[in-house]
Amino acid sequence: MGNTEQSLIEFHGVSWRANEGFAAEIIADVSLEVPRGETLVLLGRSGSGKTTLLKLINGMHWPSNGEVRVAGRATREWDAIRLRRGIGYVIQEAGLFPHFTVAENVALVPGLENWPKEKIAARVKEMLQLVGLEPAEFAGRRPRELSGGQRQRVGVARALAADPPILLMDEPFGALDPVTRAELQREFKALAERLEKTIVFVTHDLREALLLASHIILLEKGRLVASAGPEEFLRLRHPEVLAFAASLDATGGAA
Ligand SMILES: Nc1ncnc2c1ncn2[C@@H]1O[C@H](COP(=O)(O)OP(=O)(O)O)[C@@H](O)[C@H]1O
Ligand SMILES: [Mg+2]
Repeated sequence: MGNTEQSLIEFHGVSWRANEGFAAEIIADVSLEVPRGETLVLLGRSGSGKTTLLKLINGMHWPSNGEVRVAGRATREWDAIRLRRGIGYVIQEAGLFPHFTVAENVALVPGLENWPKEKIAARVKEMLQLVGLEPAEFAGRRPRELSGGQRQRVGVARALAADPPILLMDEPFGALDPVTRAELQREFKALAERLEKTIVFVTHDLREALLLASHIILLEKGRLVASAGPEEFLRLRHPEVLAFAASLDATGGAA
């Protein structure tokens, strides 16, 4: 893979324990690079360490061993606020502030960055349009007045509002019904291709991984056990890949 100029995110022999005593490693000796513009999908069962790995990128955790670098600099050396403002974060159920309107939720980071009011208003409008929500209809609503899919769209709009180069997505579509989920997956894929963000997308869904990824990494008990492009992934003869594919009953000629 590429060098530092092309790789916005790098893991070098990274391990993480919840505390420095005798606790087990939750992330164990992970090395990887995410070149600019790539959508890296982190695939793994519940409890395999996917969320923990994302938290190592945005400085919510620091490595117990090894180093995570973002834009060439170790996360420990970043100012935590600057680091996080350069990273959009989308989680399951969107994590919107319930007492804020849609517009206020989307305006959050630009507001913290002290953008002028008119620039924020224009950006909110642009972001809502980008995710397929008519600003006149949705800007003034509260999250509880939205469907699950609409809330997730607002979550994506909020994450993109300050135009961060990196987007972290933690099972963002996991709680949606299958039809809405497929719709958001398709739209997100088109959006990702257009925006040229560097994206790390977490899922336990093999089909979602194959659809969205430019590269897939399989985590098992905190270890990186397989790494391949979506075309090669199912052809890997790695036992974990075969087991994972079988356990999820991957069909559609892929298995
Ligand atoms: N702060 C923490 N302290 C102790 N254990 C943790 C902590 N965070 C996560 N874990 C454990 O680490 C493992 C991986 O968690 P997580 O990264 O949330 O997995 P995933 O997102 O793949 O479901 C789980 O067994 C979880 O209980
Ligand atoms: Mg998780």
